[in-house]
Amino acid sequence: MRVAIVGASGLIGRRLVAALVARGDAVVPVSRRAGAVDGVAAVTWDPVAGPPPAAMLDGVDAVVNLAGASIDGGRWTAERKRLIRDSRVITTGRIADALAAGGGPRVLVNGSAVGFYGSRAEEVDETSAPGTGFLADTCVEWEAAAAPAASGGVRVVLARTGIVLAREGGALPRLATVTKMFMGGPLGGGRQWMPWIAMEDQIGLLLACLADDRYRGPVNLTAPHPVRQREFAAALGRVLGRPSLVPTPAVAVKAMMGEMAEIALEGQRALPKVALANGYAFRCTDLETAIRAELRQEAPATA
Ligand SMILES: NC(=O)c1ccc[n+]([C@@H]2O[C@H](COP(=O)([O-])OP(=O)(O)OC[C@H]3O[C@@H](n4cnc5c(N)ncnc54)[C@H](OP(=O)(O)O)[C@@H]3O)[C@@H](O)[C@H]2O)c1
Repeated sequence: MRVAIVGASGLIGRRLVAALVARGDAVVPVSRRAGAVDGVAAVTWDPVAGPPPAAMLDGVDAVVNLAGASIDGGRWTAERKRLIRDSRVITTGRIADALAAGGGPRVLVNGSAVGFYGSRAEEVDETSAPGTGFLADTCVEWEAAAAPAASGGVRVVLARTGIVLAREGGALPRLATVTKMFMGGPLGGGRQWMPWIAMEDQIGLLLACLADDRYRGPVNLTAPHPVRQREFAAALGRVLGRPSLVPTPAVAVKAMMGEMAEIALEGQRALPKVALANGYAFRCTDLETAIRAELRQEAPATA
């Protein structure tokens, strides 16, 4: 299989490139900057500047789109929000239009996020309605931008990704740093849900979405057992040998983060219904084991 990966230089993209290369697939990394990802020369494309270049789609069977400006890269000013939105919606729209024209890849696995569901205490799966708030609205637009490809007969997967646990980036190293400083603990009461997924399963599910025709439309990329934030803090504290008792009130989180506090204080009890129905065998279903494996922390010896 020959796969173009937009956003290949990112946290998930790099691991996906490595996994595809390791199993002998051809990869076309796509980046706004010239260079290479995992030793593979990238095709340069700035999605805001215009449609994808022919070199990105030539002989390609599938496109994975993981592009998007970081949602926690700075306070959510109007300008920052526009960047977060446009880097996803414009990129997806341009890819979808190119694929809808035909003669190219017939599969699009497009990034999305569990933020689609907004802040929810009840269980949600791929059939649930969208929530409200900036992230939910962005996800709705992001997914809608892929529609032209689906209308053009392309198999489109909307990869609603949870909190990906990886040692080299994303939420886990940041939370680990705070925990090591004895500042881990419940945030705003800690009852909000954290739909986590180990990087190993994130990649395993993306590969399944690429290869398996049964994946089509929204797919939750989350482990089968989401936890509340306070349980996550406790598990991380156990792995790092630090107590996770220091509570941070919601008002303090909001003072520090502004509207962006939505990321820390809200969550979803998202379940991977489609993946389980398709028989995907999760490798990491226990949070503490997943954190330990990713941070390469030995489990304590049992008596
Ligand atoms: N990691 C998570 O826990 C998580 C959870 C839910 C959803 N997701 C979604 O999954 C996708 C990949 O996540 P990730 O963690 O791998 O992200 P990442 O490490 O931040 O990488 C995203 C990639 O997007 C490209 N990008 C950044 N700013 C851009 C802009 N303004 N315009 C166009 N492209 C831009 C960059 O590629 P170049 O600089 O090479 O162009 C970058 O490598 C993202 O859309 C993210 O929202 C991730």
